[in-house]
Amino acid sequence: MEVIIRPDAAIAASMTAELVAQAIRIKPQLVLGLATGRTMETVYNHLVEKHQKVNLDFSLCRSFNLDEYIGLSPESPHSYRYYMNYHLFKKVNIDIRNTHLPDGSAKDIEAECKKYEDTIKECGGVDIQLLGIGRSGHIGFNEPLSALYSRTRAKALTPTTIAQNSPLFPKPEDMPKRAITMGVGTILDAKRIIMLVTGKEKAEILAKAVEGPVTSMVSASALQLHPKCTVIADEAAAELLKEKEYYHWIFKNEPEWESFR
Ligand code: F6R
Repeated sequence: MEVIIRPDAAIAASMTAELVAQAIRIKPQLVLGLATGRTMETVYNHLVEKHQKVNLDFSLCRSFNLDEYIGLSPESPHSYRYYMNYHLFKKVNIDIRNTHLPDGSAKDIEAECKKYEDTIKECGGVDIQLLGIGRSGHIGFNEPLSALYSRTRAKALTPTTIAQNSPLFPKPEDMPKRAITMGVGTILDAKRIIMLVTGKEKAEILAKAVEGPVTSMVSASALQLHPKCTVIADEAAAELLKEKEYYHWIFKNEPEWESFR
């Protein structure tokens, strides 16, 4: 794992977007693993800008999102499908048929999860997976105690996650309490992972994920097992990291992310 600390959230997001853009330029038929949430909005704004201003070409890309709420139709303005269409897909030249999210309104959720895993495999696996981290330590919606080998499945959301995301719904009680999510094992299968973490409210959980023990109590700690994982944090989120000086030194002298291509 490489930890890169940037001065603020804007610079951290812009670096994340640039790494994704570089990967698309190197491999135009990239399979992108995408996340939703507030942290990613700026990254998608940058990618849209790169498409508009420097012709970043998404036409051959395929994408798989991490998760979707159970019980929301893709048309619901609170679904992650709607979020992705709004923030990225409708603003770049990706073929919408090549964008995948689990269907939270599927009648047979188990079959939907299996189909999702199969489709990822058929596409040759995820080349580069973008992640945020929840205050519960989740990646995707892998809440505490998610098996480190877990695959795409339905997961009950914790009170911490409900408190984090329910303000985004018209009434907090409208927020679904379950979601389909790629498993920790599914995420770790990605060839490369970039996790973006900003804001002081993420400092405590980031320190546990990066410097604590690998434990299913903090799903993001499983990223320590991945050979090509870059964590990009702003100073506020990095506040409680004990080895900050070391991470800065590596970034300046021996940057690993440049070789993660
Ligand atoms: C969303 C997802 C979540 C978020 C996390 C952080 O698809 O997978 O793990 O990345 O909850 O969300 P924000 O960025 O809103 O703090």
